[in-house]
Amino acid sequence: MDLKKVERVYTTYAGVYDQTFGRVFQQSREFAVRGLPIKPGDRILEVGVGTGEALPLYPRHCEILGIDLSPGMLKKAQARVREHRLDHVTLKLMDAGQMDLPDDAFDIVMAAYVVTAVPDYRKVVNEMIRVCRPGGRIVMLNHFSNGNKVIAAVEKMISPLCKHIGFRTDLSLNTVLEGTSLIVARKQKVNPLRFWHLVECVNQKNGHQPVG
Ligand SMILES: C[S@@+](CC[C@H](N)C(=O)[O-])C[C@H]1O[C@@H](n2cnc3c(N)ncnc32)[C@H](O)[C@@H]1O
Repeated sequence: MDLKKVERVYTTYAGVYDQTFGRVFQQSREFAVRGLPIKPGDRILEVGVGTGEALPLYPRHCEILGIDLSPGMLKKAQARVREHRLDHVTLKLMDAGQMDLPDDAFDIVMAAYVVTAVPDYRKVVNEMIRVCRPGGRIVMLNHFSNGNKVIAAVEKMISPLCKHIGFRTDLSLNTVLEGTSLIVARKQKVNPLRFWHLVECVNQKNGHQPVG
């Protein structure tokens, strides 16, 4: 899918997203956000923030920027920000593959159900690494293709179909991380059906070594 199509698909979903994907994945969003090592004043980037389902879950002592390509999804996120009075949240329309943001600007970069929903995951991951400070955390909540050969074959088969509805199923975590500066610090299966993964990485760019 190209950027225009992704934007169109998600703007179409915006009206029903919270009742469908929003609800189904909320437990794992909660699990992911509550487990983050967020310190007062930390700068957090939510890539592909969607309708902002995760935004009320963050502590108010951090600063959050949420970016998304779809004006329809962002409109919903803006309504949520107003409803919950989330003064520490800013939202911007932006392509995650070409972020209009400086290097090393964030302590934590979160991408929930995004890496397999973007047209070019490599561009997006590279941008996440660029804007995250050395030693910062990059967190992905996602389905990654399974090591099991039978399941992997099914995932590959249904992936072209899934692309039409906004995501792919055939991307493995190894492929996403290959050649990057990311070191996995935590990897856990999460619901629904423990079919999804929470992957927390340390951004080791510029030779930064993780502490602790
Ligand atoms: C499956 S939704 C996930 C939304 C949200 N993170 C959540 O947990 O519900 C994927 C989101 O990624 C956004 N997206 C896809 N490609 C993008 C890109 N290149 N730049 C920014 N956002 C993008 C879509 O518009 C959509 O809102």
